[in-house]
Amino acid sequence: MEKKILVTGGLGFIGSHTVVELQNEGFEVIIIDNLSNSTIDVLEKITSITNIKPTFFNLDLKDKKEVHDFFNQNEVDGIIHFAASKAVGESILKPLDYYENNIYSLVNLLQETTQRNLNNFIFSSSCTVYGQTDELPITENAPIKPAESPYGNTKKINEEIIADAVKAHGLKAISLRYFNPIGAHSSAKIGELPLGIPQNLIPFITQTAAGIRQELSVFGDDYPTVDGTAVRDYIHVVDLAKAHIAALNRLLKNQQKNNYEVFNVGTGKGSSVLEVIKQFEKVSQTKLNYKIVGRREGDITATYADTTLANNELNWKAELTLEEALLSAWNWQKTLK
Ligand code: UD1
Repeated sequence: MEKKILVTGGLGFIGSHTVVELQNEGFEVIIIDNLSNSTIDVLEKITSITNIKPTFFNLDLKDKKEVHDFFNQNEVDGIIHFAASKAVGESILKPLDYYENNIYSLVNLLQETTQRNLNNFIFSSSCTVYGQTDELPITENAPIKPAESPYGNTKKINEEIIADAVKAHGLKAISLRYFNPIGAHSSAKIGELPLGIPQNLIPFITQTAAGIRQELSVFGDDYPTVDGTAVRDYIHVVDLAKAHIAALNRLLKNQQKNNYEVFNVGTGKGSSVLEVIKQFEKVSQTKLNYKIVGRREGDITATYADTTLANNELNWKAELTLEEALLSAWNWQKTLK
């Protein structure tokens, strides 16, 4: 029998790529998404990649009754919880909306999960919980710092909620702390769809190259790094999607060392903003219009993952290169024009 996996936020950027990989691995997928930051045509795109249409529910996880009714009518073997608001700047302007959405959604899901002894839960966390660390690369033992934004705080609080639910209710859970997810599926049928002006580097780069934005601002060249620009660990979204399959199999096969585990998901390699720009120019064979401006408030100097734990325990490793990720992002951008 195929295992049935619920993917919340399954029409979003990381969710949609994970649905494709789950289907490729023979899982049956049920998606819950409220279309707050995604569009229904992603469902058709997923179907056209895999030739399998996932079951879809347009449902708001903040609504306790809707969540309860869903679980009364559907049995699942595991849950991958992506659905959340994720714009850092917006979270500073509307903190209560972020707490309401990101925290109620998780609590409502866990109430049902624990009452029904549904044990396998994967949470979409972020390296943002580490803040500016003193030591690089970052291991899972690095201290958790006070969050820089309400968005970051929801990730931190949600991890704590899961840890408490695991202790009290015998839930089994894994949080994956993503570094910077970028890129798109090789089919160029699914990818990142930023609303309005992109805040993240890669969509801003591809939109600038496509002529939608005039110029990319590079935020700061006076950081203590190789070339003065900030360093991040950019991971291809397809590699990231595969990390979820590895985590899910660990839960389903009862291979956990603890009922609650946390893994960094990155490449282990840091790249500066200027290195990313250079690589992008090379793979896209376009010249990018950019200028150096002042630092962006809240940005940290450098972050990249120590991925030893995920490599050894999940038997997972990022395989795609920065070049491949940037090329896929560019191919995706070209379909949007
Ligand atoms: C941001 C979020 C983080 C989230 C992640 C993934 C913040 C403070 N953090 O990380 O919580 O998990 O996105 O979505 O927003 N840059 C430019 N010009 C631009 C845009 C970015 O130079 O127009 C630089 C930034 O200064 C940074 C790097 O590019 O050094 C990456 O930025 P971005 O893609 O926004 O990701 P993070 O800030 O690392």
